[in-house]
Amino acid sequence: MHQPFMHRCLALAEQGRGKTGINPMVGAVLVRPAGRVKSEKWKVENELIIGEGYHQAFGGSHAELQLFEKLDPTSPLRLRGAGQKISSSDILYVSLEPCCHSHKKTPPCAQMLIEKGIKNIVIGMQDPNPEVAGKGIELLRSNDVNVSIAFALTADCLRLNRGFVSLMTKGRPWITLKQARTTDGRIANDEGSPLRITSKTQDEWSHSKLRAKHDAILVGIGTVLRDDPELTVRYTDNPPEIFRIILDASLQIPLTARVVRRGTIVIASSPDQKKIKELENRGVRVLTVPQKSSIFDWNTLWKLLITPESDFYGISSILVEGGAKTWEIFRKAGMVDEEVTLLG
Ligand SMILES: NC(=O)c1ccc[n+]([C@@H]2O[C@H](COP(=O)([O-])OP(=O)(O)OC[C@H]3O[C@@H](n4cnc5c(N)ncnc54)[C@H](OP(=O)(O)O)[C@@H]3O)[C@@H](O)[C@H]2O)c1
Repeated sequence: MHQPFMHRCLALAEQGRGKTGINPMVGAVLVRPAGRVKSEKWKVENELIIGEGYHQAFGGSHAELQLFEKLDPTSPLRLRGAGQKISSSDILYVSLEPCCHSHKKTPPCAQMLIEKGIKNIVIGMQDPNPEVAGKGIELLRSNDVNVSIAFALTADCLRLNRGFVSLMTKGRPWITLKQARTTDGRIANDEGSPLRITSKTQDEWSHSKLRAKHDAILVGIGTVLRDDPELTVRYTDNPPEIFRIILDASLQIPLTARVVRRGTIVIASSPDQKKIKELENRGVRVLTVPQKSSIFDWNTLWKLLITPESDFYGISSILVEGGAKTWEIFRKAGMVDEEVTLLG
């Protein structure tokens, strides 16, 4: 019975993709047993959704708070359940355990839910953030709130927030390594020029299911010099803006490369201030990372990429698209969570 509501939470949470930075994507719905609100529009199976919310942007209201902001009858955002009093039979579904720690911008959600009179909560997964990690559930239960976990959908919730979970458990973004190769093992033409490997269907799939589901695409400088790729999300409706990360220690990147534009982050060790300025003037962010045995120091690299700064909210998932040297370096360092190979 939890499934349609938790699926709705996940669909709402997904709307925050690309905007929540290092924060999780979270959705929440408030459900009332059938017959108490007279609108077929809100009916899901035998019950009714009377309020919805999701975490829309880094530093913004959490999903639960947004839901209640919309329920406020004076709010311009209000849903049709607005102004309804919370009943003890209402059930709040939320894809992630409500937080119990104070934030600069938002109050702890568990405390707010207790004060609002919520008596039944179904959550999708426990929060992996050590500051929460079950304490939100404990606080709710010790205040006579029934809390259950929709275990059947926990895997879906974990999958949605694999970037956030990786940040909390490994201190680095989730990393998917993607390669396209021919059935005889080639990834490029013999002299290194790009080889058409994948079909249009495979391209559509990898843009909508891989690129659009990560915060950033990463390539080594060899790929930029050889292929001059765009590294954008295409072949899909409403493509999200995602970051491009180029590993280029000695700043070989040509200013005319297609990736030289806003949203691109070049990782370099070179002190060439003139080239750095020229790239920055074109909207590129250049991050200086020291190298150890010709490889960027991983700790410094991850720290810079996951630390929010002014309008940069951090990166929680990366799709490593190549080429061969870059895949090798990531594999050898154990910096791979999932691998996808497209055969053409
Ligand atoms: N079939 C596919 O899926 C696919 C995808 C992408 C590319 N490709 C092909 O792959 C070829 C390019 O591959 P490639 O192996 O020559 O080059 P590459 O992997 O694109 O770039 C390698 C370079 O990136 C830098 N680099 C990567 N990881 C680093 C790290 N952790 N720390 C420091 N530097 C790092 C190093 O540059 P420095 O020189 O600065 O040390 C390294 O030499 C092209 O022919 C392209 O067409 C195929």
